[in-house]
Amino acid sequence: MTLANRPTILTGDRTTGPLHLGHYIGSLRTRVQMQHEATQFLLLADTQALTDNVGRHQKVTENVLEVALDYLAVGIDPALTTILIQSQVPELAELSQYLLNLVTVARLERNPTIKEEIRLRGFERDIPAGFLTYPVSQAADITAFKATHVPVGDDQLPMIEQTNELVRKFNNTVEREVLVECEAVLSSVTRLPGIDGKAKMSKSLGNAITLGATPDEITRAVNNMYTDPQHLRVSDPGRVEGNVVFAFLDAFEPDVAKVDELKAHYRRGGLGDSVVKRVLNERLQTLIEPIRARRSEYEADRAEVLAILKRGTEHAREVAAATLADVKGALGLSYFAQ
Ligand code: TRP
Repeated sequence: MTLANRPTILTGDRTTGPLHLGHYIGSLRTRVQMQHEATQFLLLADTQALTDNVGRHQKVTENVLEVALDYLAVGIDPALTTILIQSQVPELAELSQYLLNLVTVARLERNPTIKEEIRLRGFERDIPAGFLTYPVSQAADITAFKATHVPVGDDQLPMIEQTNELVRKFNNTVEREVLVECEAVLSSVTRLPGIDGKAKMSKSLGNAITLGATPDEITRAVNNMYTDPQHLRVSDPGRVEGNVVFAFLDAFEPDVAKVDELKAHYRRGGLGDSVVKRVLNERLQTLIEPIRARRSEYEADRAEVLAILKRGTEHAREVAAATLADVKGALGLSYFAQ
């Protein structure tokens, strides 16, 4: 890849809790690989987290460090990836303000991700305006860095669509190609279920395995995993579909032939849950051990973590400020420039 077409990637996470294996499969693994191939920005989205956590700001700010520790623990290298704190880059808020004029309230209310989240949170007519408009602030995050690629889960696709609408609208309005359209990069792995069999792993649902989980916590989580409620005796044939242990083996066991063999045996009957769970437990212990070790190393050196975040944020500000200068120039908001 030549420098000229080196992609610029921007992604991030709301800082509402530490990350878990669902994040690892869905995005963290890809980000660790991509940092070698792209100019990568990783956003600790504390401002966005505040849009539906009014009054819980302490939780949001505490988790900035937790998520940063997760990034470093899985192998995000600050020499290759710029890690930044959203709230500390005022240019992002500034760009949001200009983009907000280019979208209607009706369009925001039609955004499927927002619709679903409003339903989940029971906001209905009491939606905080900041929450309704967070897709615009997300568009600012992406466009401020002129990101060309945004790795996301399928639930975030409407955000990318809305971002590109804003880019076209802005460029049309100022009759200049200032902002850059981006492409969603969908993760190839389907979503990891929670250990209880619910469709989505989530810290708040209490069905997650975090990246700092202790060996005991991992074992307990695996032992509590939802399997096939009809599989009562070892000799009974079992179902693999909807069986969380097998969903995890699909996600984390690279030896596909071995997983296929286990599945066939389980379906036939004669393979107990405890045996499959032991295989998975070993796999997860091996996966998480080095992550946990690196996490606690960084945890013991918070000053270093803060220094990494400060450097990343400073670099990000420079990049965002350059885009903002173009944006404001294009809008005629450059009164004092010679
Ligand atoms: N919306 C993402 C989340 O819920 C976080 C986020 C904020 C983001 N800005 C972004 C993701 C820009 C991708 C691109 O975790």
